[in-house]
Amino acid sequence: MSVNKKIAVPALLFALGATGAAHAQDEKSVKVVHWWTSGGEAAALKILKDDVAKRGFAWKDSAIGGGGGEPTPAKLRASASPGNSPDAMQLLGFAISDYAAEGLLGNVDLVASKEGWDKVVPLPLQKFSKYKGKWVAAPVNIHRTNWIWANKAIFDELKLKVPTTFDELVAHADKIRKAGYIPLAHGGQPWQEAIIFDSAVMSAGGPTFYKQALVDLDPVALGSKTMENAFSQMKKLRTMVDPNFPNRNWNLATSMVYHKKAAMQIMGDWAKGEFAKGHMKPNVDYLCSQYPGTDGTFIFSSDQFALVKASDKRMAGQSDFASAVMDKGFQEKFNIAKGSVPARTDVSMEGFDHCGKKSMADLKQAMKAGSMVSGSSSSMRIPVQGAVTGVVSKFHNSNISPAEATKLLLAAVNNSK
Ligand code: GAL
Repeated sequence: MSVNKKIAVPALLFALGATGAAHAQDEKSVKVVHWWTSGGEAAALKILKDDVAKRGFAWKDSAIGGGGGEPTPAKLRASASPGNSPDAMQLLGFAISDYAAEGLLGNVDLVASKEGWDKVVPLPLQKFSKYKGKWVAAPVNIHRTNWIWANKAIFDELKLKVPTTFDELVAHADKIRKAGYIPLAHGGQPWQEAIIFDSAVMSAGGPTFYKQALVDLDPVALGSKTMENAFSQMKKLRTMVDPNFPNRNWNLATSMVYHKKAAMQIMGDWAKGEFAKGHMKPNVDYLCSQYPGTDGTFIFSSDQFALVKASDKRMAGQSDFASAVMDKGFQEKFNIAKGSVPARTDVSMEGFDHCGKKSMADLKQAMKAGSMVSGSSSSMRIPVQGAVTGVVSKFHNSNISPAEATKLLLAAVNNSK
């Protein structure tokens, strides 16, 4: 069948509306739940929508507002309710295993083995894509979260270089404030505070400590002096933000860097998608560097499309969708726009910018060194994640001391396990 004929079918069925064609329409469409609503995210998503259309599927969009996926668990669950179920849902980390354990997901093992996903997807991602050895989700990207994004004009004006130590970051912030700029653009939402926390934990303790604390939930690491040091870093970062940070969306914080109001943002590389959308270029308009003390490590967050359990007929469409998500050419185009790197290691990086190439090089090195770790949005089961994020956010929005926060963290994790 030609591509055009393939497209014509769903378009015609949509035109028929709620008639007897509805069932057939369901089989030629794909309903996708996601939270990609910012400018950069929407631009990247369009690439997926177009690819899916080329394969003959109508895209039924089910966008959930609120970046980071934070407000989503309840809404996701609602969208997965019987009679209203999507075909695919954007999920992170253990949320996938939780859904699978509840029997809500199907599997795309056949297409995964035909296309050899096992060989090209990094193992730390497969840990989340598979449930009981079967592929239940297709990973679309690898985002890195331990980045600092800096406005190059401000850095040039003040003759600053990207900070390589935390003390240097503190000194920079002082100069930036004196020059009339906001040192750190921050969005005061718990998930954004958790992103900063992850970097601070890595910086304070290194990858082994990070894994002990935020992956293995080791009580000794959680309650340690090193954890207190991580909170102390956060306390200093808190002094670098403007008073209007509470509840600010992440992309509004990015636009403060974009518009030269703020000098830096600590955020995942989806911020790069916003810069790309606004035609800003790395090393020309903005700088990317690792959060001080986290060089050689890679804190990742991989967006994956979990496939919702469906009838056999619908599963064929889901496999096609999963195959579109895993397509090499698609992953190249998509990840250039999204700011991330591909979820498969065999994609050409030639078309990626400086920060994208650096990210892939660092990823490969971190995979070898064992310093590729998942961010706290993925590394913990949902109740534990909620407990950790709760303490971190409370700390960031109050006068609790680092020592007290460390005690609260240990208690909250113990209660949530
Ligand atoms: C993350 C997601 C990214 C990005 C960000 C902001 O959870 O992994 O793809 O879009 O949220 O919405």
